[in-house]
Amino acid sequence: MRSLLIRQVNSLTRRAYSASIGSEVENVKPFSEMPTITFFKMVKESLPGGKYYNKSIKDVLQAFFDEFGEAVRIPAMLGNPEIVMSYNSENFEKIFRAEGTWPVRTGLDSLEYYRDTKRPEIYKDLGSLFVSHGEKWSNMRSIANPILMQPKTIKKYTTQVDDIAKEFIELMRKIRNDKSEMPGDFSNYINTWSLESVTAVGLERRLNLFDPNTNDENAKKLIKGIRDFFEMSAEYDGKASVWKYYQTKGFKEFLTVYDTLTDVILYYIDLAIKEMDQEKSTASESEDSILKKLLRVDKRVAVIVVSDLMLAGVDTTASAVLNTIYCLAKNPEKQEILRQELINILPEKNSRMTSENNKNMPYLRAVIKEAMRLFPVASGNVRQTTKEIVISGYQVPANTHVGLQFHLDLINEKYYPNPDKFLPERWLRDQSDNNSRAGVANPFSFLPFGFGVRSCIGKRIAELELETLVANIIRNFKVEWHYPDMKIKSTFVNIPDSEMRFKMIEL
Ligand code: HEM
Repeated sequence: MRSLLIRQVNSLTRRAYSASIGSEVENVKPFSEMPTITFFKMVKESLPGGKYYNKSIKDVLQAFFDEFGEAVRIPAMLGNPEIVMSYNSENFEKIFRAEGTWPVRTGLDSLEYYRDTKRPEIYKDLGSLFVSHGEKWSNMRSIANPILMQPKTIKKYTTQVDDIAKEFIELMRKIRNDKSEMPGDFSNYINTWSLESVTAVGLERRLNLFDPNTNDENAKKLIKGIRDFFEMSAEYDGKASVWKYYQTKGFKEFLTVYDTLTDVILYYIDLAIKEMDQEKSTASESEDSILKKLLRVDKRVAVIVVSDLMLAGVDTTASAVLNTIYCLAKNPEKQEILRQELINILPEKNSRMTSENNKNMPYLRAVIKEAMRLFPVASGNVRQTTKEIVISGYQVPANTHVGLQFHLDLINEKYYPNPDKFLPERWLRDQSDNNSRAGVANPFSFLPFGFGVRSCIGKRIAELELETLVANIIRNFKVEWHYPDMKIKSTFVNIPDSEMRFKMIEL
């Protein structure tokens, strides 16, 4: 099935690509001629018996591509603007290059609504990273960039993130069954690892989630709230929904999820402020933690940025770890190559990862990239154009919302020879074999952390966490997979939807 999809993508893209280059300017067609799904068709196909009924977002997007090709207009519906859905890396480059200085990424309207109308005392005049636009977003990003994007700030967390990974390895030893398999709900454990790591970095707090005796009700609320957020936003933001006109019981519950998350984060920030007051630190400002730096700006700024880190940074990183381990379990020879690289740097199973030795792990980085290609955490993005551009031969006016659907190009032979194979080598420099991506690559076909000034602000944190846990797992266990292929569920991001019963054999 996957191979068939790859063949279809490759032949369609070859045709479309050769049509889109060359005499683009002469052959530009007006926007009105772009394939369009009518409002009527959209409603009809979304009802029981229709093509889009009860389908995941990803399947609906696939159905659009199958029927209309690589650019299609989706009508404005229920308060959402019209959007052009596009499916080709040459288009992605044009769209990103037309995003302007304050890129607009829509798609989380429920959170924007909640923050503006239900908690204006925190958000209204300040906005946020995740969902604000224009000057408000830019101001917040200018505050957060020097705090979160500086490699030297993130490096300071290397030991703590490694400690957490090592505690998690111990937990894995405890939860293995007599066949050395992880429990069916291993994804939930990985989620607790991800939350434990993000809170250690962003909130400067250990929640001790691996300790079965920990009974931190707020931590439990945080985990549940973040999971509910992903599920519910797929429903209320990812699909057509009436909430902008009429708030259903389900949508009101969603607002209480947002409220719980805000209150729990406020609670932890207040706790941190109290502890810091008592601490009387002698450290200089430049040595401050992320949280202290944010609090120096303003308490509300700290609440806003930390909330965004929690919402964006837990399920994403957890999904990336599971996907990477799955790819390694399915490709034992690649797992062994990685293990040899790790053994050179981490001679003992419990050797420390440091900000020095973790620079020398090119194969580990290539493995993570390749897993993100085959199993993208976010397989789409959205931008509003700031000028007229040509997409797949059609003129698209300025201020149009455009969706970028990456998943098809990630398995496109044009960019990735043997696209269905897990080949970390394609990401290594100086590769001269046929599978290397060097030379043919279009960087716009692989943007797991987005693009430009609005790209993922947590990228460095995510990479540190991912590399540290994957390295610790592979250094301690031989990982195997003895079940049917992993299924993926597309909520706001793509998450594994199988019981992740990895076999972890002690080395
Ligand atoms: C493997 C893990 C992750 C992936 C694949 C990922 C991916 C992304 C992507 C694709 C975007 C949108 C970028 C764009 O529009 O160009 C984004 C935005 C964002 N991410 Fe991540 N992310 C990950 C982990 C994290 C972590 C760990 C954090 C925080 C600790 C984080 C915080 C954010 C925030 C706050 C934004 C919004 C930035 C803005 O609009 O200014 N992410 N992420």
